[in-house]
Amino acid sequence: MCGITGYIGGREAYPIIINGLKRLEYRGYDSAGVMVFDGKEINLSKTKGKVSDLEKITENKNKEGGIGIGHTRWATHGVPNDENSHPHISNSGELVIVHNGIIENYATIKKELISRGYEFKSDTDTEVLINLIEEVKKNEDCKLGKAVQLALKNVVGAYAIAVFDKTNPDELIVARLGSPIAIGVGENNKEFFVASDASPFIEYSKNVIYLEDGELAIIKRNKGIKVRKINTDKEVDTKIQKLELSLDQIEKGGYDHFMIKEIHEQPKAIIDTYRGRILGNEGIIRMSGIDDNISHFTNANRIIIIACGTSWHAGLVGEYLLEELTRIPVEVEYASEFRYRNPIIKPNDVVIAISQSGETADTLAAIKLAKEKGAFVYGICNVVGSSIARETHAGSYTHAGPEIGVASTKAFTTQITVLSLIALKLAEAKNTMAKDDINKYLELMKQIPEQVENLLKIDSEVKEIADVYKNAKNCLFLGRGFNFPVALEGALKLKEISYIHAEGYPAAEMKHGPIALIDENMPVIVIATKRGHYEKVVSNIQEIKARSAKVIAIVTEGDTTIKEIADHIIEIPDTDEIFTPLLTTIPLQLLSYHIAVLLGKNVDQPRNLAKSVTVE
Ligand code: AGP
Ligand code: GLU
Repeated sequence: MCGITGYIGGREAYPIIINGLKRLEYRGYDSAGVMVFDGKEINLSKTKGKVSDLEKITENKNKEGGIGIGHTRWATHGVPNDENSHPHISNSGELVIVHNGIIENYATIKKELISRGYEFKSDTDTEVLINLIEEVKKNEDCKLGKAVQLALKNVVGAYAIAVFDKTNPDELIVARLGSPIAIGVGENNKEFFVASDASPFIEYSKNVIYLEDGELAIIKRNKGIKVRKINTDKEVDTKIQKLELSLDQIEKGGYDHFMIKEIHEQPKAIIDTYRGRILGNEGIIRMSGIDDNISHFTNANRIIIIACGTSWHAGLVGEYLLEELTRIPVEVEYASEFRYRNPIIKPNDVVIAISQSGETADTLAAIKLAKEKGAFVYGICNVVGSSIARETHAGSYTHAGPEIGVASTKAFTTQITVLSLIALKLAEAKNTMAKDDINKYLELMKQIPEQVENLLKIDSEVKEIADVYKNAKNCLFLGRGFNFPVALEGALKLKEISYIHAEGYPAAEMKHGPIALIDENMPVIVIATKRGHYEKVVSNIQEIKARSAKVIAIVTEGDTTIKEIADHIIEIPDTDEIFTPLLTTIPLQLLSYHIAVLLGKNVDQPRNLAKSVTVE
């Protein structure tokens, strides 16, 4: 996620950029950097760590100049360290870039550039991009704007970039695809501010141009701004909008809380997670962590998944996915239990550790124990270079971007996305699925982001239901099969942000005890999609209704049966059973969010909870 900033005009650029980076800190980051040009020299500083660390290293450096760019990094390619921080400089030392996003085909481009004599100091995809731009600029003998445009036509991925050319220091080039850019327009077009959102320049200008996807802007000192379509070179009429949002609203992307913002980020987070891993339409899944260690998985007699909280729920979905598709036996363990019970680890056991933060103490300890006992340990983390990412033998990142709300949402759906890709990849390696079936599943997966996007439109409908049940003292969540873990996750969401007691159960388990709790004061949320034991769940709903409880049912769109018996129904699009958790979890996230807001709870920082439980 991270953030980029830039300035060109008559003021000193450095303080504007540094303060801008501080404004972007809320987005989460692991490194920071700044470049200013004093008319002769490029003065660039960058470091792993915080903006305050960056200020320390620039303390005695020349910070003069009316043009510069800055960056807060959320690493995707290359662990967080000084060298991998941005800005990155091209081999000639003339071009400088800051970048937010992922260049999917960077490896291929890097190989070609190395064959042409380019050298690389970092492991990032961004350093490849700035040298591609340099190579194009040299070959086409063109200006920076044209070079950036031509280079981007050869790039696959997501980017928000700001690029500077020392040999033509009166302009900044910015371009975006899939990551946001806001351009603040100063008085009389005499100065311009560039940033990932308007928070860095809100006190300097309320006039903002939001670049659209596939657009490139050439910003010239004292001459103004020109915007073009990257693909067609067609000039775009720039629309200057008046900034109405407060700083706090900008930080939350116009949403009231980080949690609801992150719920709505899930379509993009899922795309970013499978981006570069599903190749074209050939149904090829590229995951270097798996590819490089495939024999561990194909020879595995058992997979043990260890995690905590929401990540443990994702692990339960992983159990259904892996056993269904690969026929490898899977066990899911609370990391906190696993680490203390002297578990039996057999040769060929594979352990998968799941953690959004990559810093959960129980999970980290469980990993170390599994390694001591000889297991191969694979990590699924959201934070590049985190302790768990470094402790595991290999792994795959969920590219969800920073998750700031304590209640985990986009981490859950992106963890399931990675687990789905792993299951399909191993099914192919173990020949437990036909290639055509794997392709079919991958095509269904590519439909999920749009289905989630459409599903998020039920927000107001869910809010109405939340208003009816906000004062419940207890709630029961029921699901079967792939959606049993979603019932657990829905209960966790509700209890951790609204403080209403909630429990998740397999629907069939109700008659073994919980049904004694059911009466008119116990709302029951039932996941009753068409896929997976539908008739059984219908019977469960009838049993619940027979005890006067209210039923909120999550159903497949078009369902007419449950509409007749449940008190409320929330429809979700149809998909294969294995992908239903990616959809059924959405209304449960929204329901918990709205109940908590209606109760006036601190949604983003619920009482007693921390975003990352780094203590035992
Ligand atoms: C989930 O909403 C909670 N915030 C919590 O259960 C969390 O999932 C758990 O602490 C695990 O964190 P991790 O994924 O960072 O390891
Ligand atoms: N992919 C780039 C990197 O890993 C940019 C990541 C970001 O958006 O901060 O450095």
